[in-house]
Amino acid sequence: MLDSNIHFSDVLVIGSGLAGQSSALAASKYSNHVTILSKVSVMRSHSVAAGGGINSVSGYEDSIDDHFVDTVQGSDYLADQNAVKILVKNAPFEISFLEELGVKFDKIGDKILPNKFGGAKFARTLNSSFKTGLSIMDSLFDSIKNSNISLFEGFHVIDLLVQNNTCFGIMALNMKNSQLTPFFSKTTILATGPYGYLFNNTTNSVICTGDGLAIAYRAGASLKDMEFVQFHPTSLIGSNILITERARAKGAYLLNNKGERFLKKYAPKSMELAPRDIISRAIIKEIELGLAFEDAEYGSYMELSFTHLPEDIILQSLKDIRDIGLHFTKTDIITEPLKVIPAQHYMMGGIDVDLNCNTDVNGLYAAGECACLSVHGANRLGGNSLMECLVFGRISGKSASIYSQSISNFDYDIANQLVLKQESKFKKTINSILNSSENLNISHILKEMKIIMTSHASISRNKKSLQHAKEQLSKLQILMNDIRINNSDTYSNIELCSYFELHNMLDLSEIIIESSLERKESRGSHFRLDYPIRNDKEWLNHILIKKTDSGFNLSTKSVDLSDLSLKTRNY
Ligand code: FUM
Repeated sequence: MLDSNIHFSDVLVIGSGLAGQSSALAASKYSNHVTILSKVSVMRSHSVAAGGGINSVSGYEDSIDDHFVDTVQGSDYLADQNAVKILVKNAPFEISFLEELGVKFDKIGDKILPNKFGGAKFARTLNSSFKTGLSIMDSLFDSIKNSNISLFEGFHVIDLLVQNNTCFGIMALNMKNSQLTPFFSKTTILATGPYGYLFNNTTNSVICTGDGLAIAYRAGASLKDMEFVQFHPTSLIGSNILITERARAKGAYLLNNKGERFLKKYAPKSMELAPRDIISRAIIKEIELGLAFEDAEYGSYMELSFTHLPEDIILQSLKDIRDIGLHFTKTDIITEPLKVIPAQHYMMGGIDVDLNCNTDVNGLYAAGECACLSVHGANRLGGNSLMECLVFGRISGKSASIYSQSISNFDYDIANQLVLKQESKFKKTINSILNSSENLNISHILKEMKIIMTSHASISRNKKSLQHAKEQLSKLQILMNDIRINNSDTYSNIELCSYFELHNMLDLSEIIIESSLERKESRGSHFRLDYPIRNDKEWLNHILIKKTDSGFNLSTKSVDLSDLSLKTRNY
């Protein structure tokens, strides 16, 4: 059951999306033994799904300062301004780096053609055809293949190996043979991406189960700003396939059942290009006012209309969206609107890290969506996430390498003891889930959890419903003891992996609810019906959540406000 091979790295990166690849490449400049470990094959990482674009100042009218101000305002002032500065200043360098690797951004001649996304004063979202995430992933992966970085695909990380607040690596499950496989490392970088699969209505894929956050939390790291869940305003009803903001950047309108561009009531200056939190809330308000359309199968929706746009714009610049419409709903956007509804898309919260991507566990780092720096504060702007992965992936790789060089003797004794402990815990778990007399299956709890999160931790929240969610989730935690998996195969046992994923998602759901109960104000994506106003006096701070023997420990941390003073957001 236990793989007896010793896998050792100076820097071990968990996750093979943009942040993971970027951190591994950066680490490999300074360290000889760099490993990437991923539960899926590299090109199935969620980053490939990013079709919207990546933000960097590129035009003459735009400036680094404007990118900074837009990001801080978009964040509803919860972003740490020192972190935002690092993001926006490094963005043009990352774009040049990608171009050197062969990524082709959309251009006319040698002039980049960015789009103006929500909350941005100027056009700064760069595209690579309709597949920005995929193009970048492809080019980075070519570099990984040509490096001496070791790659392990199909390994599901179960827990971190941590003693005395120091990380010695991880314990993983080899998904091909169900062998427990320890990976020792001087430093470990978590780059495990999103965790939106705990909602029913999400643009995230089934692999987005928050494994990195959950294992970091269990190992003693703090999570930060977990109440901030972003809903993207435009996903297709039924499937929640993302209809990229590029649609609105190119002029698509959102309409209510009166045929009105209803955003004139909520964001009269920016209309469809207001930030996502504002548009998603506006849609919910229109639904409450009875101004939504109703679909017999899927319920309320708004229309996203392209029919006023010239056909050549649709065929050239919105071809991917036309294909989605034709393929999934038999709708041709040249002649008919799409039916759209908000869906969970991004998590602003994550593992608390400093500007060098250090967590509060020694030797443990985090980057990308699983981390919280916080560059997005209470609401992320479209296009900033891919750039965050590259900028802070690079920083985490460098920081981890430098730290690993300071460890001259890796303590194998401690690491081996931790493996034995993990092995015995794992055996107990396996014994319990293979032999449970209760016969409760994973999908039952998964379904219930998703319903709870979708009904109570969505765009609008209030104490009563959050409290209800908390009680329901704690009942599900108890039911986890009754789970039985019926598949005892060792070869590719998906059910076993799903069990560990569910465990992680349930922990994170409780944490989201706990943090949402704690923040008694409305800011960015966190809208409390019972505290509808932003309250800078009491709540202009991050909420940290840490595991203790007696449950959650909540505390606050100040926000870096070094440059821009507070204002009311006005779009
Ligand atoms: O709408 C979009 O294209 C999404 C982009 C993003 O989340 O950054």
